[in-house]
This record gives sequence, C-alpha cells and structure tokens, in this order.
Amino acid sequence: MKLIKITLLTSYFIFSPVLAGEIDASNEANLSDSLKAGKLKAAQICSACHGLNGTAASGGNSPLVPNISGQSKDYLVVKLKEYKTNKIEHPQMSMIAQMLTDEDIENVSIWYSSIKVKVFDPEKVLVINTLD
Ligand code: HEC
Repeated sequence: MKLIKITLLTSYFIFSPVLAGEIDASNEANLSDSLKAGKLKAAQICSACHGLNGTAASGGNSPLVPNISGQSKDYLVVKLKEYKTNKIEHPQMSMIAQMLTDEDIENVSIWYSSIKVKVFDPEKVLVINTLD
C-alpha cells in the first residue's frame, strides 16, 4: 500500500505538466491581462480548429489547419491582418479575422506566440509513422 502511494506521488512529479521555472497557465492569476484576453478569444473562436494550445490536431481538425503555437507574435499579427483586409482571401480565416478587433488580434497573437514548442531533429530522433 505504501509502495503504491509512493509510486503515485513520484509519477505525479515526473509527469506533472508544469516543470520548474514554467508558469502554470491553468492558474489564471499567473497571466498578464493580454494573455488572459488572448486565451479567452482563443478558447471562444480559434480552438475549434487550431486547438487552445495552437497545435491543430488538438482541435481534431483537417490537416489543412496549420499549427500556430510557437510562431512569432509579429508573424501572427501580420497574417491575421492580411486575412482581415482580404490581402489573403480564405473562406474561413478571412471571415474569422473580420470578427476580431486590432486589440483581439494583438491578444490572441500574444497567447499563441507564448506557447513554446520543442523541435526534434529527424536525424537524431527516429519517428515511426504507423499510418504509412
Ligand atoms: C473554422 C476553422 C478555423 C478557425 C475557427 C480559425 N482558423 Fe485560423 N486557419 C484555419 C485554416 C483552414 C487556415 C489555413 C488558411 C490558408 O490556407 O490560408 C488558418 C490559418 C491561420 C493562420 C495563418 C497561419 C500561417 O502560418 O499562415 C493564422 C495566424 C490563424 N489561422 C489564426 C487563427 C486565430 C488567431 C483564430 C481565432 C481568432 C483562428 N485562426 C480561427 C482555420 C481556422
């Protein structure tokens, strides 16, 4: 019994998603106002396709929905404004961007650019794709 408890406790620390030095975004108190507002917009609108964490697969959507986490904030702002002004026309994104104010664009871009991703070099990490 004691052993089970210790094992559970250890795995909690090992598998806890929040690592030392990282901020727990599930604790809203840790977020700046822009991050809070950006997270809310992302949850209300973007997450359906891009996921709340910006990895499209988490939204369970089409492979044509790009991942947007870890992207630079300026890039996201520029892209969203290009959709908004129809410089880039896309049936879904142009309509969505037109629903956003400049402040919303700033905030969601801060949210998604703040999500950090880890890159794995295929020469060093062998990924076996079972679908091929
Ligand atoms: C209905 C699904 C859907 C929703 C909801 C949605 N997107 Fe998209 N998004 C897409 C698709 C599909 C594309 C690819 C469009 C293209 O090919 O130009 C895209 C592209 C983008 C891009 C460009 C990425 C790049 O690298 O070119 C950004 C940035 C983006 N979306 C941000 C957002 C944000 C922020 C929200 C919420 C306010 C949002 N999207 C909501 C489907 C969606």
